[in-house]
Amino acid sequence: MIIAIDGPAASGKGTLGKLIAAHYGLAHLDSGKLYRAVARDTLAAGADPTDAKAALAAAQARDFATLGDPGLMDGKLGEAASIIASHPEVRRALLAYQRAFAAQKPGAVLDGRDIGTVICPDADVKLFVTATPEERARRRYRELREAGNMISQEEVLADITKRDERDRNRATAPLIKAEDAVLLDTTNLDIDAAFKAAIALIDAAMGHAGQAG
Ligand code: CDP
Repeated sequence: MIIAIDGPAASGKGTLGKLIAAHYGLAHLDSGKLYRAVARDTLAAGADPTDAKAALAAAQARDFATLGDPGLMDGKLGEAASIIASHPEVRRALLAYQRAFAAQKPGAVLDGRDIGTVICPDADVKLFVTATPEERARRRYRELREAGNMISQEEVLADITKRDERDRNRATAPLIKAEDAVLLDTTNLDIDAAFKAAIALIDAAMGHAGQAG
């Protein structure tokens, strides 16, 4: 069973993905962390994220043992990740890892921008998670402040708006709802309500209901 979750920045895909995976006993991959890790390594090598060759070298030499690194959530890495993610060669270098992850038994939940469109076009269920930019900025702001990041809510809003625009308009694997994805707008839902709504949508899509607990 493969569940694909896509959506714009800070829409709650990662948190939802983790909860959904635990609910169904599946593995979970937050694919944004792959791009963030490659961005971190590109910067650590002294290269600019716009340098496709350097970003590809970082993607090829990747060490995904560090995907739990809390430093990956840094706002600057989000921006750098969005830039390196626009290089088609970087996306290609990360494709096999994601497909292999999705193929494990009994299944997996992957979240990102192109899971339902490119990585797992045959996923059993596809969700597209959104919320207004203001609500997403409010959530990310709270998260970053809790992690000790001194940033204003206006800066967070500007960052995610810019990133979404780049992600939506890139030529390769842009952020877009797959035609067969179900839309989940979490603007007025807290995480518990969003989780319940997601489970109801997934169960309905899988043709069986009543597992929301
Ligand atoms: O957590 P947040 O929503 O802020 O972002 P993320 O999921 O960690 O992704 C960081 C960046 O990686 C995004 O802005 C995208 O440019 C890129 N990304 C992508 O291109 N494709 C994916 N499947 C996942 C992330």
